[in-house]
Amino acid sequence: MLVENNVALQPYNSFGIVARAQRLVRVREEADVAQLMASPEWPGGATPTARPFVLGGGSNLVITGDVKPLVLKVEIPGRRVVEETPRGWVVEGGAGENWHDFVAWTLAQGLPGMENLALIPGTVGASPVQNIGAYGVELQDRFHSLEAVDLQTGQPFTLDAAQCGFGYRDSVFKHVPAGEKGFGLEGRALITRVRFWLPKPWKPVLGYLDLERKMAETGIHAPDAQQIFDWIVAIRRAKLPDPAVIGNAGSFFKNPTVTPEQCADIIARDPKVVHYPMADGSIKLAAGWLIDACGWKGKSVGNAGVYEKQALVLVNRGGREHPCTGGEVMTLAKAIQTSVYERFGIRLEPEPVVV
Ligand code: EPU
Repeated sequence: MLVENNVALQPYNSFGIVARAQRLVRVREEADVAQLMASPEWPGGATPTARPFVLGGGSNLVITGDVKPLVLKVEIPGRRVVEETPRGWVVEGGAGENWHDFVAWTLAQGLPGMENLALIPGTVGASPVQNIGAYGVELQDRFHSLEAVDLQTGQPFTLDAAQCGFGYRDSVFKHVPAGEKGFGLEGRALITRVRFWLPKPWKPVLGYLDLERKMAETGIHAPDAQQIFDWIVAIRRAKLPDPAVIGNAGSFFKNPTVTPEQCADIIARDPKVVHYPMADGSIKLAAGWLIDACGWKGKSVGNAGVYEKQALVLVNRGGREHPCTGGEVMTLAKAIQTSVYERFGIRLEPEPVVV
């Protein structure tokens, strides 16, 4: 186990923001964590300031300056089929595996179920943190369990779905621990492996408008999982910027939910507002539409901008050479929040982690 000093973080965040980690350790197996915790390098995890920062794929991250806490970069590899039963398969990925490659691997093994989650940037270990989701499937729909190490005690532990407290782009891993007025495991759990449950018989999830369009265009009404995977890849490529080309962190804001009364009020003023009724009676609004309606598409603050094809995505317009700063991203985000609040009375909540 090697502690690296003054490490450039630009390659490790999908915005391509320039920043440095004072100290960084690469975690390649569970034993690395135990070894680190026993060494004098370990800062102790008890207080929020001393707590290490766990870095996955950096695809849901805005870095606003050099990172002072010890950075644990999770690089644990591994893909395996854990078991097959008459009811389904359990597959496992090391936390450091690239998410999209892992999804592609499951399909190559003939195991369908994760195809709607193709091309989401990031790592397997980060996927439960914000309960990633797309095109009608959320991670929690395919989640089995995960392995993690407690950064306070050094003990490994397992969590099932209920213990992860999944919500819309939310989980226990995004909330501060008990004792700090929270109930969560933020900064406390280092996820090492994630297991997924792929039920038999496979059922395609095709309810999303973009997928219905693909079926109509191609005349394929009973696509297999690989076909759906290919469509999702094409849909995402057409709409979302490739972080390897234009830095970004995916959707920057969560889609807000409002009461039917609030929604009726907005519809009275803006009849075109995109809204979806939810099972619990609330109404979800498309944040991208709200931002677009406020005229933000294509606007910039310094080198941080609002993507021309999808107002929900903030992008780095300066490339690797003259990248935006985290400060510019957050100034732009705050200006968007203010204008959406002034026009619609809705507070947009950012999706990425800000450090
Ligand atoms: N819209 C606009 N203008 C825009 C952007 C969107 O009018 O600039 C409208 C669209 O026309 C559409 C609606 O808003 O009617 C919703 O847009 P879209 O279908 O593109 O999906 P989204 O709600 O913006 C969510 C997820 C994405 C996920 C897609 C597909 C969130 C915050 N985002 O986006 O997730 O890929 O659905 O399922 O829930 C991510 O979290 O990083 C992410 C990319």
